[in-house]
Amino acid sequence: MKHIRRLWPRSRPHGEQSATADNQQEMPDEHSASFLKLTKLLCSALIPIMIAVFTIVVTLQERDLANRQRDYDERQADNEQQEDIFKIYIQDISKVLQTQPDNRGISTQNLLFIRTQTLTALRKLDSKRRTYVFLFLYESKLIQSPTKLDLTGADFTNIHCDGITKNTLKDLHLPGVDLSHSCFINCYIDGTNFADSIMLDIKFTNSVIILTTFKSCLMDRADFRNGKMFYNTFNSASLAYSDFSNIIDIKENNFTNVNLTGTKVTYKNLLYENNTFHNSIMPNGTYGPIQQKNLVVNGDAETNVSFETIVYGILSKEICASTVNRV
Ligand SMILES: *[C@@H]1O[C@H](CO)[C@@H](O)[C@H](O)[C@H]1NC(C)=O
Ligand SMILES: *[C@@H]1O[C@H](CO)[C@@H](O)[C@H](O)[C@H]1NC(C)=O
Ligand SMILES: *[C@@H]1O[C@H](CO)[C@@H](O)[C@H](O)[C@H]1NC(C)=O
Ligand SMILES: *[C@@H]1O[C@H](CO)[C@@H](O)[C@H](O)[C@H]1NC(C)=O
Ligand SMILES: *[C@@H]1O[C@H](CO)[C@@H](O)[C@H](O)[C@H]1NC(C)=O
Repeated sequence: MKHIRRLWPRSRPHGEQSATADNQQEMPDEHSASFLKLTKLLCSALIPIMIAVFTIVVTLQERDLANRQRDYDERQADNEQQEDIFKIYIQDISKVLQTQPDNRGISTQNLLFIRTQTLTALRKLDSKRRTYVFLFLYESKLIQSPTKLDLTGADFTNIHCDGITKNTLKDLHLPGVDLSHSCFINCYIDGTNFADSIMLDIKFTNSVIILTTFKSCLMDRADFRNGKMFYNTFNSASLAYSDFSNIIDIKENNFTNVNLTGTKVTYKNLLYENNTFHNSIMPNGTYGPIQQKNLVVNGDAETNVSFETIVYGILSKEICASTVNRV
C-alpha cells in the first residue's frame, strides 16, 4: 500500500522531473523500479484489452440485433402469410356465396368446398384470425340454423368474442367443433347448438345463455360466472370443475346424466329453480335423483340393451343395482 501511494505522483505527466528526484531520494530500491515497469506495462496493455473488450461487446450487440431483426422478419413473414391465407379464404367463400345469395340453396358440392376451405384455413390461422373467420361465417349466416354446413372437427380454439351486441349470437349452429379455451364474454347466446363439441376451459363469463344445447359436450372447467341461464340442455355433458359461482339466475336447465364433479356452485341457485339433475354426479360427489326413464340416451336405444351399457358409465353398477332392487 505504501508503494502505491508513493508511486501515484510519478504517473502524472507534469511531475516527470520531480518524480525522478523522488525516485532517487526516497526510493532508490530495485523493487520499486520493477513495480513501476510493471505498472507501465499494464498501462500499455490496458488499451489493447479495452479495444478487445469493446470489439467483443459490439460484436455481441450486433449479433443480438441481427437475431432480433431475423425474429422480427420471420414474424412479419408469418403475419403476411396468415393475412394471405385469410384474404384468399374470405374471397373464395364470398365467391360461392355470391352465386347463391340464399344460403339454403347452396349445393352439396359447394357445402363440401366451404367445409374443406374452412377447416384448412382454421388449422393454419392464429386465434385472432380464427375469431374473424368465426364472425365472418356467422355474419354470412353459414353457421346459423337452419344451415346445412357441417363443420364437425373445426378448430375454433382460443377464439375471443367479447361484448358482441345483444342478440347477435342467435341460432348459432356449431355441433362437434373444438372451442376449447375460447371465450364468449358479455354475450347473449340464444338458441345455439353446441352439441358434441369440445369446450374445455371455455368462458361464458357475464353472458346470458338461453335455449342452448350442450348435449354430450366435454366442457370441464367451463366458466359461467355472473351469467344468466334459462332452458338449456346439458344432457350427458362433462362439467367437472366448472364455475357457476355468482350466477345471477339459473332456471329450468336440464342437467340429466351430467358429471358435475368439483363444480363451484351457489347451492341455492343451482339446485332450486327447477333445474333437473337426474342421474348426475353432484358437486359433492353424490348422485342426483336416479330416474330409469331418462337412462335411455337419445330415446331410440333398443329396449333389450343391458341396463349398464345405456348409462354411459356415469352410474356405477352398485348404484344401478340398488336402484333396480328398490324398484
Ligand atoms: C317450477 O315449475 C313448476 C311447474 O312447472 C312451477 O309451478 C314453479 O313455479 C316452478 N318454480 C320455479 C322456482 O320456477
Ligand atoms: C350432496 O348434495 C346433494 C344435492 O345438493 C344433497 O342433497 C346431499 O345431501 C349432499 N350430500 C352430502 C353428503 O353432502
Ligand atoms: C331432460 O332431458 C331428458 C333426456 O333428454 C328428458 O327425458 C327430460 O324430459 C328432460 N327434462 C326436462 C325437465 O326437460
Ligand atoms: C333384442 O331382442 C330381440 C328379441 O329377443 C332380438 O331379436 C334383437 O336382436 C335384440 N336386439 C339387440 C340390439 O340385441
Ligand atoms: C367425472 O369427472 C371427474 C373429473 O374429471 C372424473 O375423475 C370422473 O371419472 C368422472 N366420472 C365419470 C363417471 O365419468
